[in-house]
Amino acid sequence: MDLLGVVVIGATGKMGREVVNAVNEADDVYVAGAIDISNQGADIGEMIGSKPLGVFISDDLGTVLDNAKKPCVVVDFTRKDAVLKNIPVALMKGVSAVIGTTGFTDEEISEFDKLGKENNAGIMLAPNFSLGAVLMMKYAKELSRFYDQAEIIEYHNDKKIDSPSGTAKTTADGMTKDDNSIITGVGSSDNHPCRGGDFNGVRVHSVRLKSMIAHQEVLFAGHGELLTIRHDSFSRQSFMPGVLMAVRKVREWNGLKYGLDSII
Ligand SMILES: NC(=O)c1ccc[n+]([C@@H]2O[C@H](COP(=O)([O-])OP(=O)(O)OC[C@H]3O[C@@H](n4cnc5c(N)ncnc54)[C@H](O)[C@@H]3O)[C@@H](O)[C@H]2O)c1
Repeated sequence: MDLLGVVVIGATGKMGREVVNAVNEADDVYVAGAIDISNQGADIGEMIGSKPLGVFISDDLGTVLDNAKKPCVVVDFTRKDAVLKNIPVALMKGVSAVIGTTGFTDEEISEFDKLGKENNAGIMLAPNFSLGAVLMMKYAKELSRFYDQAEIIEYHNDKKIDSPSGTAKTTADGMTKDDNSIITGVGSSDNHPCRGGDFNGVRVHSVRLKSMIAHQEVLFAGHGELLTIRHDSFSRQSFMPGVLMAVRKVREWNGLKYGLDSII
């Protein structure tokens, strides 16, 4: 059976390097390409401190995909503007995509779905690829049936561009869907900026500090009690089993699946 090739977009970034390493260590997939706007021409194996892989960093996704042995998929951890430029190139060549980059509007997400269906390519877009974070979101949704007050505190590193995080947005969506109603305490963002931001009716506090990876607390208040669920990603390795699972499955459907929970 042919091994599945993985073209990593954003290969020299913090997440991209981890993906290259995880793919390189897995038996059933291999690094078929490395796309980035920095470190072009360098061998991606050497970039991650491993042995040379003979895969050289390029910023030309179209050419890399044309030359790549099939089957292959792309994995993207870059930034929103890069995804909007690169992912249509992959989908229009019928190459399925795993997207970890966050910060998209509903319209942009619908456009990925449309493009995937038109070109018989699958897309997995997940705001968080860690199993623990997926379980945190699942249980936050369930708990919101029993509590009417909750707030979210999320912590990420100081370089993160978007806020609230994709995980916080998805958590808040789940907590307010299906007749679950969450009433936040007093204080609008306008009059009380320190009370965090209102996202879909759930107040979210976004902390941005160096050394953070991805952390979130969801606090549910009852009468005389507080229930907190918390998840911490202490290393970027926590995302890799989810990324590899998505890589192995993403060619099984056309169009978009959102969230790792949709495939586990
Ligand atoms: N879904 C998840 O589980 C998860 C987990 C962690 C981070 N993220 C998200 O992943 C994204 C990347 O995070 P990071 O910490 O690795 O960032 P990073 O800044 O370390 O890496 C981004 C990489 O993308 C490259 N890049 C930028 N523009 C490009 C372009 N046009 N073409 C090719 N490469 C380009 C940069 O050179 C850089 O190497 C962010 O959106 C972050 O929120 C998602």
